[in-house]
Amino acid sequence: MQLDEALTYDDVLLLPGYSEVLPRDCDISTILCGEIHLNVPVISSAMDTVTEEKLAIAIALEGGAGVIHRSLNPEDQAQQAANVKRFLNWIIASPVTVGEEASIKDVRLVMDRFNVSGMPVLNSQEKLTGIITSRDLRFCRDDTLNVTAVMTKNPIVVQGEPTAAEAREKFDKHRIEKLPVVDGEGCLKGLITVKDMEKHALFPLAATDKKGRLIVGAAVSPQDYEIRMPLLKKAMVDFVVLDTAHGDTKNVMNAVTGIKKKFGIPVIGGNVARKDGTRRLIDAGADAVKVGIGPGSICTTRIVAGIGVPQFSAVMECADEAAKNNISVIADGGIEFSGDITKAIGAGANSVMIGSLFAGLKEAPGREILYDGRIYKEYRGMGSIGAINDGAGDRYQIDKDEKPVPEGIEGRVPYKGELKNYLFQLISGLRKGMGYCGCKNIDELKKYRKFVKITSAGWRESHAHGVTITQEAPNYSVSRPI
Ligand code: XMP
Repeated sequence: MQLDEALTYDDVLLLPGYSEVLPRDCDISTILCGEIHLNVPVISSAMDTVTEEKLAIAIALEGGAGVIHRSLNPEDQAQQAANVKRFLNWIIASPVTVGEEASIKDVRLVMDRFNVSGMPVLNSQEKLTGIITSRDLRFCRDDTLNVTAVMTKNPIVVQGEPTAAEAREKFDKHRIEKLPVVDGEGCLKGLITVKDMEKHALFPLAATDKKGRLIVGAAVSPQDYEIRMPLLKKAMVDFVVLDTAHGDTKNVMNAVTGIKKKFGIPVIGGNVARKDGTRRLIDAGADAVKVGIGPGSICTTRIVAGIGVPQFSAVMECADEAAKNNISVIADGGIEFSGDITKAIGAGANSVMIGSLFAGLKEAPGREILYDGRIYKEYRGMGSIGAINDGAGDRYQIDKDEKPVPEGIEGRVPYKGELKNYLFQLISGLRKGMGYCGCKNIDELKKYRKFVKITSAGWRESHAHGVTITQEAPNYSVSRPI
């Protein structure tokens, strides 16, 4: 028997090459799955100490996406996803309106009650006939007047499903503050306000859908997808992740096919670590493949079960297979430093999934722990005893009444503050790597493929050595002896 060699991130380095690319000019946008684009190639793990709505909002505002874990009951998970979708709600689907029969007094009351500064006016057939704003009211001294006497008649509108750019153009051109959305018959379908557009402008990198809402994903399993999917679909979730420890199984293949057929939502299948599993997921209909068996910081699968593939080789093998069908790969687990993101994408991944590096963030749901005078946050594997007891056992094929045999540990990670600043450090590391290789976008980095294998002496040399660190850097800390 001939044994293949398999490597992980620490075993390799990208070779620097001739470059005309400045890190800040690199385009790091990527395809997550199907038609979903991210501006930053990073998603957060579907873990109960990593991704709930707060972190999902924070990461999507910065260009990535969160995957809401499934230890929540189906209703709560869907509600959290809906809250993420609503956060940058630039088209208000059911705006407050008044009828044509209303008086100015009525209008003032409604505006006060709902705290809005303007409303569309509808006739008895629910068609839009005007718009009334607080600016109109400021110059109206007679409250007995009918709203139709004061409102702007035939206001500027937009039809169908406008893009943010189309809406912006209307606001700028007509210097208006509210833009009703109507259908072909002139019936009101929504309202866009300049204030909401400005909120969008504060987050220029935000990962959004065609309607300008934040991108969000949710985890499901072969056992629970029938229950979760209808709720998640209603919540407008953008994609789902089949969250299993072993994705190359009949159950997972059937679930991928079932979700695609019945619910028509993009599915990320996983986890796998070899090309055969990648091929089977693609044939079953997966829109992207998630790679990683045992690389995670809290994973003990490789030690407990004796299986797995070091992550760098796993990503490379699966990405080569997925590339044949132009399917995206997500490198899940094992990212310890920003340079590992560069290596994962250099190995062929379109994006990375991160758990431990995010668990210490302010927005992560884990408990804060004060230990030895420092603040930490709880981080645990979804295959740990604690997570299994809280309902995550089916990820590891453990039934509710079965004695748990964990494949993960429970621990803590240092508190890291807000996601925005931390993610900036991570993606700046990626940009620097791209600059050193002369790759101006993710596709070029995926195709670069110039690596060297290093020795343990080379790895030691790569880290800070021979010095006592007196000032911690925001992008470098080591939790184990080098
Ligand atoms: P990092 O290294 O970012 O890895 O902390 C996060 C990924 O690890 C996976 N995961 C587990 N794997 N046992 C495992 O073998 C576990 O208990 C466990 N919990 C999470 C998961 O893919 C996650 O995204």
